[in-house]
Amino acid sequence: MDITTVFKNNEDWIAGKLEKNPDYFKNLAKGQNPDILYIGCSDSRVSAEDLMGVKPGDVFVHRNIANMVISIDLNMMSVLTYAVENLSVDHVVICGHYYCGGVKAAMDAADLGILNPWLRNIRDVYRLHRKELNGIEDESSKYNRLVELNVQEQCVNVLKTAVVQKAIRNRGMKIHGWVFDVSTGKLIDLKIDFKNILKEITEIYDLGGMNIDSL
Ligand code: CO
Repeated sequence: MDITTVFKNNEDWIAGKLEKNPDYFKNLAKGQNPDILYIGCSDSRVSAEDLMGVKPGDVFVHRNIANMVISIDLNMMSVLTYAVENLSVDHVVICGHYYCGGVKAAMDAADLGILNPWLRNIRDVYRLHRKELNGIEDESSKYNRLVELNVQEQCVNVLKTAVVQKAIRNRGMKIHGWVFDVSTGKLIDLKIDFKNILKEITEIYDLGGMNIDSL
């Protein structure tokens, strides 16, 4: 792609917005009040706003390789804290996607240098669910299932944080696990049964009142 195209596209985009509303950017500059925090994969095919059909200002977005929520990732935790405590989002979404290169890499025996510690977290998801995953013979079905289970475990990681537990307890904030299917364009709600998943581990991760009944 010729990089000058980007700036030409930008000019066209501005013109389109102003044609519909001359105050569009003036209003945008006033501030943001998004309802959703979207945590997704950096994959170029999974464009958060586009696939949800939302406008600038609607969704607070964080993306990294394979939509991971790692407790010592200062970047992730800063985004989560700011979205939950300062922007008071109503929903936190973890959105994975089928055909995820990060998840695929975590299924292969290969040394990927600095990516190893990052992808190790996905290998840990595999270990947690190895019985189910090893029971799936078809490789692509196993791959898809690991994508889904990774979303589930990253949702659980979100639920392990004090800011999220507090927001669920005090104002009923919701957590959602989704998968985007690159081959169809379909956004799928995994409808994760958090109550069931957390019922035996609530005690371990409770940081002062983990209300799983409202999930
Ligand atoms: Co991906």
